[in-house]
This record gives sequence, structure tokens and C-alpha cells, in this order.
Amino acid sequence: MGKKVTVVGAGFYGSTTAQRLAEYDVFDTVVLTDIIEGRPAGLALDLNQSRAIEGFETKVVGVTTGPDGAGYEAIAGSDVVVVTAGVPRKPGMSRMDLLGVNAKIVRGVAESVARQAPDAVIVVVSNPLDEMTALTQLASGFPHHRVLGQAGVLDTARFTNFVAEELGVPVRSVKTLTLGSHGDTMVPVPSQCTVDGRPLTEVLPAGKIEEIVVRTRNGGAEVVGLLKTGSAFYAPSAAAARMARAVVEDSGEVWPVCAWVDGEYGISGVYLGVLAELGRSGVRRVVETPLTDGELASLKEAAEAVRAKQADVATM
Ligand SMILES: NC(=O)c1ccc[n+]([C@@H]2O[C@H](COP(=O)([O-])OP(=O)(O)OC[C@H]3O[C@@H](n4cnc5c(N)ncnc54)[C@H](O)[C@@H]3O)[C@@H](O)[C@H]2O)c1
Repeated sequence: MGKKVTVVGAGFYGSTTAQRLAEYDVFDTVVLTDIIEGRPAGLALDLNQSRAIEGFETKVVGVTTGPDGAGYEAIAGSDVVVVTAGVPRKPGMSRMDLLGVNAKIVRGVAESVARQAPDAVIVVVSNPLDEMTALTQLASGFPHHRVLGQAGVLDTARFTNFVAEELGVPVRSVKTLTLGSHGDTMVPVPSQCTVDGRPLTEVLPAGKIEEIVVRTRNGGAEVVGLLKTGSAFYAPSAAAARMARAVVEDSGEVWPVCAWVDGEYGISGVYLGVLAELGRSGVRRVVETPLTDGELASLKEAAEAVRAKQADVATM
């Protein structure tokens, strides 16, 4: 059977993700859904009309879904489902301010996905990310390895961009890493960051690294503040689309993602940002990376912070 990916939510994040997935030209079908009548169909029509120019054959199908799960038949057989449904932040809001409203939306989506695409891998992006990933696993009943969240690919890309700009070097010569949560307890890992293979700590003074770390942690809010309405979507959609592609191609690529941690780093029973090997089964395995004592302590702190909040979503 052909490769099929679904993107739930056809707002800024979802529509850009659908575009990236279609332009990869590795899927037979990209299904784009939303509750807004006509929007996904209109976007699909528009995207399909770009095929002759961009040179891809992937067919985009737009479907309006109902709150009771109507329309979800169209996602049957999806290899991957990217969940972007929900409300984004406004200036001054934290991701946690979205918890109540997005929990209701994401729970309904997860239940419908489980009914119609029971073998899919779900990539969650709706915020607050760590909590929505945990909720999606609970509501879908999927094994943990088939539900993961997108945060670290984006946070790391932001970190890399800032370092490259600071040093005036190509982004490809910079490697950075962030772990932990997608929020205040994000854990940047300077000890694993390099520029042309040299440790970041030898290339930039500690104060400058700290400045970049703070800017990375607030990377989403900086964009929200400038846009005034809506939040970032170009870099976020690039991140989610890459993850979906890694799963479908069974690539074995190692990315920082929000994955279920079960003993790694001495942490258990929580969704947390860690390095993971991605493949057809979702998260093939969590990859442990060497951390300094301080970084490990921060990761454990992040795990405890998100554990408490993830427990709350069970009843939402
Ligand atoms: N994980 C990350 O790194 C990251 C980055 C950026 C944004 N986000 C989050 O992604 C989400 C989407 O952001 P956006 O910019 O696309 O927002 P948006 O408002 O442009 O789009 C959200 C879409 O979801 C739709 N929707 C609402 N309920 C739905 C349902 N039950 N089923 C299907 N669709 C539904 C809305 O109609 C809307 O079109 C937000 O929660 C945002 O905070 C996450």
C-alpha cells in the first residue's frame, strides 16, 4: 500500500506541515483535516495546483471533520498522523495557558485517530507539548513508542541558528542539543554542542552561550511577540514534517523528541525531551547521551516538573 500521512488541524502549523510533506514527494497521500468547513478542501486544492510547478506527485486531500469524529474515515490507513489541532499562544501567554482548551480538542482528536487509524504513529505538536503528548497516548490507548511529540527538533534548530548567526558560520557547521521539556524547563546541553567539531564552550564565552540559551528557551515567545496574532510555524512545521518522514522511511535517524522515558538517565514513567531513534514503529529506542552532572540534574528536574502536569491531564 502507498504511504499515507494525515495532518489534523489546517491552521498555520498544519497547512505548512502538509505543504512540506507533499513537497518531499515521498508520500502517496497527505490528508489535511480541520473542523472549519471548506478550509482543508480549499488548501488541498491550492496545494495540488502547485504540483506541476514544484514537481511532486503526492496528492493532498482536504477533509472537514465533525466533533463526533465524522469525516475521520478519510484518515484510515495513515502511517503517521501529525496532530496540530488546538489554539496557539497570544503575546504574554505561556504554553500552559492553553492546557484546558487544547486538552479537550486533543483528547477528541486522539480518540478519533485511534478508531480510524489504529496502526498509525502519532506525532503531537499541540501545546503545551509534553502534556498533550501524554494525553494523546492515554486517549488513544496506543503503546508509548507510537506516540511522540515535537519540540526538541525545533528548539535545537533555534539554538543552532542563533549560534551560527553569532559566529557568522554556516548552520551546517553547528551542532546543538536541547533536552527536557518544551517550556521553562528546557535543558540546553552545551557540553554536546560543537562548531566545526570544536566544543561550543571553546568557541564562545560562557556569558554568550547563556544569552543564546535564554533566547532559545524564549524562542517561541519572541516570534509570538512579533507576530501579535498566532505563533511560529515555518521552523515548527519543518520539524514535524522531518519526524513524520523519518518514521515512514524507517530511517533510524536520531532526533531530540518528546518520548516516553522508561529508565534512561535514571528517569521513568514520563514523556520528556530526549534523543530517540525514529523508525516505522515510532520511537525505536531512547538514546542516552553523555551529560555533565549539572545537565543531568536539570534533566531530572525537568522530568519532575512535567511529571506532575502530565498526571493532571489524565482527568482532562
Ligand atoms: N510543538 C511546537 O513546537 C509548537 C510550535 C508552534 C505551535 N505549536 C502549537 O501548535 C498548535 C497549532 O498552531 P497553529 O499556529 O497552527 O494554530 P492555528 O490557530 O493557526 O490552527 C489551529 C487549527 O486547529 C483547528 N482545530 C481546532 N480544533 C480542531 C479539531 N477538534 N480538529 C481539527 N482541527 C481543529 C482550528 O480550526 C485551526 O484551524 C497550537 O497549539 C500551537 O501552540 C506547537
